[in-house]
Amino acid sequence: MYTDWEDLKKACFGCDKCQLAETRTNLVFGVGVNDAEVLFVGEGPGEQEDLSGEPFVGRAGQLLDKYLEAIGLSRKENIYIANMVKCRPPQNRDPKPEEQDVCINWLREQVRLLRPKIIVCLGRISAQRLISPNYKVTQEHGEFFEKNGVLMMGTFHPAALLRDPRRKPDALTDFLKLRDKINEVCEQTKLPY
Ligand code: URA
Repeated sequence: MYTDWEDLKKACFGCDKCQLAETRTNLVFGVGVNDAEVLFVGEGPGEQEDLSGEPFVGRAGQLLDKYLEAIGLSRKENIYIANMVKCRPPQNRDPKPEEQDVCINWLREQVRLLRPKIIVCLGRISAQRLISPNYKVTQEHGEFFEKNGVLMMGTFHPAALLRDPRRKPDALTDFLKLRDKINEVCEQTKLPY
Protein backbone atom coordinates (compact mmCIF):
# COMPACT_ATOMS: atom_id res chain seq x y z
CA MET A 1 0.00 0.00 0.00
CA TYR A 2 1.43 3.37 -1.03
CA THR A 3 0.59 6.78 0.33
CA ASP A 4 2.26 8.88 -2.32
CA TRP A 5 2.80 8.83 -6.06
CA GLU A 6 6.59 9.05 -5.93
CA ASP A 7 6.89 5.92 -3.73
CA LEU A 8 4.43 4.07 -5.92
CA LYS A 9 6.24 5.08 -9.12
CA LYS A 10 9.62 4.10 -7.73
CA ALA A 11 8.38 0.64 -6.73
CA CYS A 12 6.58 0.14 -10.03
CA PHE A 13 9.61 1.12 -12.12
CA GLY A 14 11.56 -1.67 -10.40
CA CYS A 15 8.91 -4.29 -11.16
CA ASP A 16 10.06 -7.62 -12.55
CA LYS A 17 7.05 -9.70 -11.56
CA CYS A 18 6.27 -10.99 -15.06
CA GLN A 19 8.10 -11.84 -18.26
CA LEU A 20 7.16 -8.54 -19.92
CA ALA A 21 9.81 -6.85 -17.77
CA GLU A 22 12.51 -8.73 -19.71
CA THR A 23 11.64 -7.19 -23.07
CA ARG A 24 10.54 -3.67 -22.15
CA THR A 25 12.52 -0.59 -23.16
CA ASN A 26 10.56 1.61 -20.75
CA LEU A 27 7.88 0.83 -18.24
CA VAL A 28 4.82 2.94 -19.03
CA PHE A 29 3.46 3.95 -15.64
CA GLY A 30 0.76 6.43 -16.65
CA VAL A 31 0.36 10.12 -17.25
CA GLY A 32 -1.90 12.96 -16.24
CA VAL A 33 -3.10 14.89 -13.25
CA ASN A 34 -2.53 13.17 -9.89
CA ASP A 35 -5.92 14.15 -8.49
CA ALA A 36 -7.95 13.75 -11.70
CA GLU A 37 -11.58 12.72 -11.26
CA VAL A 38 -11.54 10.76 -14.52
CA LEU A 39 -9.24 7.82 -15.25
CA PHE A 40 -8.83 6.20 -18.69
CA VAL A 41 -7.49 2.65 -18.82
CA GLY A 42 -6.12 1.15 -22.02
CA GLU A 43 -4.66 -2.25 -22.70
CA GLY A 44 -0.89 -2.05 -22.73
CA PRO A 45 1.92 -0.05 -24.30
CA GLY A 46 2.66 -0.41 -28.01
CA GLU A 47 5.95 0.28 -29.74
CA GLN A 48 5.89 4.07 -29.47
CA GLU A 49 4.82 3.93 -25.84
CA ASP A 50 7.57 1.43 -25.01
CA LEU A 51 10.12 3.74 -26.63
CA SER A 52 8.86 6.96 -25.02
CA GLY A 53 7.57 5.72 -21.63
CA GLU A 54 4.24 7.53 -22.10
CA PRO A 55 0.85 5.89 -22.75
CA PHE A 56 -1.07 6.52 -25.97
CA VAL A 57 1.49 8.50 -27.96
CA GLY A 58 1.29 6.53 -31.24
CA ARG A 59 -1.43 6.83 -33.90
CA ALA A 60 -4.11 5.44 -31.60
CA GLY A 61 -3.07 7.91 -28.92
CA GLN A 62 -3.30 10.82 -31.32
CA LEU A 63 -6.85 9.77 -32.16
CA LEU A 64 -7.68 9.43 -28.47
CA ASP A 65 -6.40 12.98 -27.90
CA LYS A 66 -8.87 14.25 -30.56
CA TYR A 67 -11.84 12.69 -28.74
CA LEU A 68 -10.58 14.05 -25.42
CA GLU A 69 -10.15 17.51 -26.90
CA ALA A 70 -13.66 17.40 -28.41
CA ILE A 71 -15.15 17.39 -24.90
CA GLY A 72 -12.58 19.58 -23.11
CA LEU A 73 -10.39 16.86 -21.56
CA SER A 74 -6.61 16.63 -21.74
CA ARG A 75 -3.89 14.63 -20.06
CA LYS A 76 -2.22 17.92 -19.03
CA GLU A 77 -5.29 19.40 -17.34
CA ASN A 78 -7.95 17.08 -16.03
CA ILE A 79 -7.53 13.33 -16.57
CA TYR A 80 -5.17 10.44 -15.85
CA ILE A 81 -4.34 7.73 -18.40
CA ALA A 82 -2.97 4.29 -17.54
CA ASN A 83 -2.99 0.78 -18.96
CA MET A 84 -3.90 -2.71 -17.73
CA VAL A 85 -0.29 -3.75 -18.15
CA LYS A 86 2.63 -1.36 -17.80
CA CYS A 87 5.09 -3.11 -20.12
CA ARG A 88 4.73 -3.78 -23.85
CA PRO A 89 3.62 -7.27 -24.81
CA PRO A 90 5.91 -8.51 -27.64
CA GLN A 91 4.47 -7.93 -31.13
CA ASN A 92 1.56 -6.12 -29.45
CA ARG A 93 -0.16 -9.40 -28.56
CA ASP A 94 -2.93 -9.30 -25.94
CA PRO A 95 -1.55 -9.24 -22.40
CA LYS A 96 -1.86 -12.77 -20.92
CA PRO A 97 -4.24 -13.26 -17.96
CA GLU A 98 -1.30 -14.03 -15.67
CA GLU A 99 0.45 -10.81 -16.75
CA GLN A 100 -2.73 -8.85 -16.06
CA ASP A 101 -3.13 -10.60 -12.70
CA VAL A 102 0.16 -9.28 -11.38
CA CYS A 103 0.05 -5.89 -13.07
CA ILE A 104 -3.48 -5.04 -11.93
CA ASN A 105 -2.06 -4.51 -8.45
CA TRP A 106 -0.18 -1.44 -9.71
CA LEU A 107 -3.38 -0.15 -11.28
CA ARG A 108 -5.24 -0.75 -8.00
CA GLU A 109 -2.66 1.37 -6.18
CA GLN A 110 -3.05 4.10 -8.80
CA VAL A 111 -6.83 4.01 -8.33
CA ARG A 112 -6.43 4.18 -4.56
CA LEU A 113 -4.28 7.32 -4.77
CA LEU A 114 -6.38 8.94 -7.49
CA ARG A 115 -9.84 8.08 -6.14
CA PRO A 116 -11.50 8.75 -9.53
CA LYS A 117 -15.25 9.34 -9.85
CA ILE A 118 -15.31 7.83 -13.34
CA ILE A 119 -13.18 5.13 -15.00
CA VAL A 120 -13.31 4.83 -18.79
CA CYS A 121 -12.19 1.48 -20.20
CA LEU A 122 -10.65 1.78 -23.65
CA GLY A 123 -11.42 -1.50 -25.40
CA ARG A 124 -12.23 -5.07 -24.50
CA ILE A 125 -9.19 -5.99 -22.42
CA SER A 126 -9.71 -3.36 -19.73
CA ALA A 127 -13.53 -3.47 -19.88
CA GLN A 128 -13.64 -7.26 -19.40
CA ARG A 129 -11.23 -7.01 -16.52
CA LEU A 130 -12.65 -3.95 -14.78
CA ILE A 131 -16.37 -4.00 -15.65
CA SER A 132 -17.36 -7.61 -16.32
CA PRO A 133 -15.76 -10.72 -17.84
CA ASN A 134 -18.53 -10.94 -20.44
CA TYR A 135 -18.41 -7.28 -21.43
CA LYS A 136 -19.10 -6.71 -25.15
CA VAL A 137 -17.83 -3.35 -26.37
CA THR A 138 -20.06 -3.38 -29.46
CA GLN A 139 -23.21 -3.86 -27.34
CA GLU A 140 -22.43 -2.06 -24.09
CA HIS A 141 -20.23 0.89 -25.11
CA GLY A 142 -21.33 4.19 -23.61
CA GLU A 143 -23.28 2.58 -20.73
CA PHE A 144 -22.36 3.48 -17.16
CA PHE A 145 -22.04 0.80 -14.46
CA GLU A 146 -21.44 1.55 -10.81
CA LYS A 147 -18.83 -0.54 -8.99
CA ASN A 148 -17.69 0.23 -5.44
CA GLY A 149 -18.93 3.79 -5.75
CA VAL A 150 -17.08 4.43 -9.03
CA LEU A 151 -18.85 4.90 -12.36
CA MET A 152 -17.37 2.76 -15.10
CA MET A 153 -17.89 3.08 -18.84
CA GLY A 154 -16.41 1.17 -21.75
CA THR A 155 -15.83 2.49 -25.23
CA PHE A 156 -13.98 1.49 -28.38
CA HIS A 157 -10.21 1.25 -28.24
CA PRO A 158 -8.81 3.99 -30.51
CA ALA A 159 -6.75 1.36 -32.38
CA ALA A 160 -10.04 -0.43 -33.18
CA LEU A 161 -11.40 2.87 -34.54
CA LEU A 162 -8.36 3.17 -36.80
CA ARG A 163 -9.08 -0.34 -38.11
CA ASP A 164 -12.82 0.27 -38.46
CA PRO A 165 -13.61 4.00 -38.86
CA ARG A 166 -17.34 3.24 -39.22
CA ARG A 167 -17.39 3.07 -35.40
CA LYS A 168 -16.19 6.65 -35.01
CA PRO A 169 -19.66 8.26 -34.72
CA ASP A 170 -20.55 5.78 -31.92
CA ALA A 171 -17.30 6.62 -30.15
CA LEU A 172 -18.08 10.33 -30.35
CA THR A 173 -21.54 9.68 -28.89
CA ASP A 174 -19.84 7.83 -25.99
CA PHE A 175 -17.56 10.79 -25.33
CA LEU A 176 -20.53 13.18 -25.36
CA LYS A 177 -22.27 10.94 -22.80
CA LEU A 178 -19.07 11.00 -20.79
CA ARG A 179 -19.03 14.80 -20.87
CA ASP A 180 -22.59 14.90 -19.52
CA LYS A 181 -21.78 12.40 -16.77
CA ILE A 182 -18.65 14.32 -15.78
CA ASN A 183 -20.66 17.53 -15.46
CA GLU A 184 -23.23 15.65 -13.39
CA VAL A 185 -20.96 13.86 -10.91
CA CYS A 186 -17.54 15.51 -10.87
CA GLU A 187 -16.88 18.41 -8.53
CA GLN A 188 -13.70 19.92 -9.97
CA THR A 189 -14.06 18.96 -13.62
CA LYS A 190 -16.62 21.09 -15.42
CA LEU A 191 -16.71 20.88 -19.20
CA PRO A 192 -18.11 23.39 -21.70
CA TYR A 193 -21.14 22.49 -23.83
N1 URA B 1 -2.77 1.09 -26.76
C1 URA B 1 -3.04 0.97 -25.44
O1 URA B 1 -3.95 0.25 -25.03
N2 URA B 1 -2.30 1.67 -24.60
C2 URA B 1 -1.32 2.48 -24.99
O2 URA B 1 -0.69 3.10 -24.14
C3 URA B 1 -1.06 2.59 -26.37
C4 URA B 1 -1.80 1.88 -27.24
